Amino acid sequence: MVEALESRNVPTHVAFIMDGNGRWAKKRGLPRHLGHRAACERLNALLRHCKAVGIKAASFFAFSTENWNRPQEEIDHLMEYLRLFFERNIDELIQDGTRVLVSGELGRLPEATRDICLESVEKTKDNHDFTFNVCLNYGGRDEIVKAAASFAADCLKGLANPEELNEGSFRKYLFAPDLPDVDLLVRTSGEERISNFLLYELAYAEFVFTPVYWPDFDERELDRCLDTYSKRNRRFGGLGNG
Ligand code: IPE
Ligand code: IPE
Ligand code: MG
Repeated sequence: MVEALESRNVPTHVAFIMDGNGRWAKKRGLPRHLGHRAACERLNALLRHCKAVGIKAASFFAFSTENWNRPQEEIDHLMEYLRLFFERNIDELIQDGTRVLVSGELGRLPEATRDICLESVEKTKDNHDFTFNVCLNYGGRDEIVKAAASFAADCLKGLANPEELNEGSFRKYLFAPDLPDVDLLVRTSGEERISNFLLYELAYAEFVFTPVYWPDFDERELDRCLDTYSKRNRRFGGLGNG
């Protein structure tokens, strides 16, 4: 399958809304947080597969600005599983050329999770083969509002000028300025909405929805999504290729 995909149209940047962890756990009679644990355990294999098929960047929605509305106990577990993920995988990420980015407001996260995220970003900042963008306490509207506020602050300091702002120069105020637009958005669990993810970056993304719950989302299912993507005709407002 990997070989077959290589000759096809592989997206440069894929974004994942990792949904369905709670339902996955419930179906098995388990507490919701074990769904989050299983979800984190899927990440490494999927990252490897993304790299193997030639994807250059992958963004993963791990925790939204709205997810603070959940019970504190669930939030605590989730933050701990994310911390463990980085602790266990940081060396491999460093060695295999992965650059870690974290998009979102990290200030509100538990200190241990925040620290390991920042350490992972720092230790991988010179890697170039692949970008792993973890969206944590991330909201699409929050990102755009923060970008507008930073731009306004630069204007007040005389560092920017409203007349020179355009879609390209605005990007530098986003959380991950050098990432290209998302080509493919995958959402698991059968829900078909954006839930405030990457509102600016998804402008021309192809959307693929799969009923599979995230903890069951494996390399084969990713290949199916990539296959669907490769058959899409992206027109970008033009006439495309027929
Ligand atoms: C996605 O799974 C993970 C987060 C939102 C943090 P959910 O926890 O939303 O799982 P469901 O949608 O309730 O099944
Ligand atoms: C989106 O999933 C957020 C993440 C996957 C981190 P949610 O489960 O929070 O989204 P809604 O509430 O169903 O829209
Ligand atoms: Mg959900």
